[in-house]
Amino acid sequence: MIKYILYVSEVADHCGERETTDILKKSRANNEQNAVTGMLVRKNKQFLQYIEGPSDTIDMLFKKIETDDRHRSVKVVNQGMASDRVFFNWEMAFADERNLQPLQWKWQLDKISLFSLADDGEECLAFIKAFLCVPQLAANTPLS
Ligand SMILES: Cc1cc2nc3c(=O)[nH]c(=O)nc-3n(C[C@H](O)[C@H](O)[C@H](O)COP(=O)(O)O)c2cc1C
Repeated sequence: MIKYILYVSEVADHCGERETTDILKKSRANNEQNAVTGMLVRKNKQFLQYIEGPSDTIDMLFKKIETDDRHRSVKVVNQGMASDRVFFNWEMAFADERNLQPLQWKWQLDKISLFSLADDGEECLAFIKAFLCVPQLAANTPLS
């Protein structure tokens, strides 16, 4: 069984495209070592992230992420154990405004924030899983 955590947070003022790219580079290197996979979405000043992997590893990683000053108001939306990974070979995929268009029809993303999407944990889980059909996000960064 693997553990997963889905959370939303507010991006810190000093966390721009370069800093987000730094987060992704570090995450991809670390996660590959630690058998962690997942997906990070940045929309306006909000992050939504799904991390999955061995239970102890995910607990330790989440403690680090929670105290990272590049974001604040970290709020867990959904967490649990699962028999299979969702993002099984994505060390940390990434989507920002430029990549959200294909999902616009279903979630009306121009009208809602990630925090309001997070009000419904199941819906939010379905939202993040929908990125799986966009393979180029696996190595995407804000600066790519
Ligand atoms: C929104 C966000 C998402 C992050 N995701 C990850 C991640 O998936 N994996 C990771 O190792 N670090 C992630 N980090 C970075 C950690 O908070 C921390 O800086 C990093 O793990 C430290 O790595 P080190 O102990 O190898 O120096 C994330 C940080 C932020 C702000």
